[in-house]
Amino acid sequence: MKQDLLDLLRERGRGEMPKVLLAAAECAPLSKTGGLADVIGILPKELKKLGIDARVITPYHRCIKDNYASEVEHLFDFRIWLGWRNAYVGIERMVCNGVTVYLVDNEDYFNDAIYRGGLREGEQYSYFTRAVLEALPQLDFAPDVIHCNDWHTAMMPMLGHIQYRGRMQDHVKYLLTIHNIAFQGKFGFDFVQDMFGVDPCYYTPEFLELNGCASYLKAGCVFADRINTVSPSYASEIKTPAFGFGLEGVLNARHAVLSGIINGIDRDFFNPETDPALPARFSAKDRSGKAVCKSMLQKGMGLEQRPDVPLFAMVTRMTEQKGFDLVVCVLDDMMCREDMQFMILGSGDERFEKFMAAAEKRYPGKLCSYIGYKEEISHLVYAASDFFLMPSRFEPCGLSQMIAMRYGSVPIVRETGGLRDTVIPYNRFPAEGDGLSFINFDAWEMRDAMRLAMACYKDQEIMDGLIDRAMRKKFGFENSAGEYARLYLWML
Ligand code: ADP
Ligand code: GLC
Repeated sequence: MKQDLLDLLRERGRGEMPKVLLAAAECAPLSKTGGLADVIGILPKELKKLGIDARVITPYHRCIKDNYASEVEHLFDFRIWLGWRNAYVGIERMVCNGVTVYLVDNEDYFNDAIYRGGLREGEQYSYFTRAVLEALPQLDFAPDVIHCNDWHTAMMPMLGHIQYRGRMQDHVKYLLTIHNIAFQGKFGFDFVQDMFGVDPCYYTPEFLELNGCASYLKAGCVFADRINTVSPSYASEIKTPAFGFGLEGVLNARHAVLSGIINGIDRDFFNPETDPALPARFSAKDRSGKAVCKSMLQKGMGLEQRPDVPLFAMVTRMTEQKGFDLVVCVLDDMMCREDMQFMILGSGDERFEKFMAAAEKRYPGKLCSYIGYKEEISHLVYAASDFFLMPSRFEPCGLSQMIAMRYGSVPIVRETGGLRDTVIPYNRFPAEGDGLSFINFDAWEMRDAMRLAMACYKDQEIMDGLIDRAMRKKFGFENSAGEYARLYLWML
């Protein structure tokens, strides 16, 4: 264990490291729709190395049942009230990458999509929240800290404080991590009343109310003992009206307990030297395998088989957050004028999916899209591409740009949130930087950055320098886990 953690442990008057239960809607590799799952997959693994017994509790989603049922053990079951509904709760357990994962089983709520959308999603995760709080006293694990993630689990601190006083939850501390403040779990008060029976005295702006309805995330921000988000820049940004989505007031009020901890990636899983999803492996020292990956992707996706043309890629949710409006604005201009290729793997808003499908027809051999969510293909896209485009409107942290860098794909990012904290902009004299960036959310600024990328691509020395610095960058999760460990200790 690191010396500074030991000192802090002593300072806090504790004999042992805290026990932590991470509650989240998804957890890689069991269930995943985005970066939240990656973080929940890797953080407890790294915390264990620091001597912290960290476990995960997450829904027993259909995709987990389909792929891991044989590894899952039934622990116990009981029933809970969710308003007038009396619902079954099964608590199952499995060990995934050395970490104990508790799975909340209920076929009515978790037999299809991880997120059902709208009120149905509200009910899914209200159920999960209640099930976790009720399961706690019976678990073979008594956590000191419940680490909540995003709105799906953000009601736990409030309910713990107002409905579970005098029960074992009393000594439990709550950390709320905001992975994305744009998603808040906003519902009418009648819905909250129906789900949780919360006393109407809490339907006020000091507690639950935001813009005339209840915000689960706001409740978390009010009641959690500590709040953090996933990069220092985003922690500053969400205190402003431009990024706070209405929560800037409460976050300013609670600034003393708000911090930013940058994410990392699982360097073993995302490793171009060993990745089984790649047709050829490569390292920063010997990148010959990267050319094989590029050729393979070009062939598989119907792009012209050319090693000499820069391949720009995106692996993303196709939403406004990810800057898709900018892509829509300049893509035709770029494709008509420049000798380049573009590949996108993603899914999301229908209008963006349709735009990409139509663009593919306009530029056969130059542009291709794969609409859908495919882990193996994503690895090939990271490995095959020369540049990785991430022009986000806002980005709490972003893992894709880190994965891209690990696979030698130079990121082109907008300087916001975690993108600002993880990509050092290219500078020619002295030669430094590991990516290209632009400041304003402006399509022409993005196009200029892409043009600069094309110019860099023509100069082997510049390109080698950029790729080398990107690939050698340390994006492991060790430092982030150390910061979380310190945060847990401070909370006790
Ligand atoms: P966010 O969580 O906001 O979507 P991140 O950059 O933090 O963005 O994480 C995205 C994660 O999801 C990365 O691991 C990325 O590779 C993966 N991902 C996103 N879209 C797809 C897709 N269509 N297919 C496979 N993986 C995807
Ligand atoms: C969210 C954010 C993303 C972040 C991820 C993991 O999905 O949009 O920026 O990397 O959570 O924290």
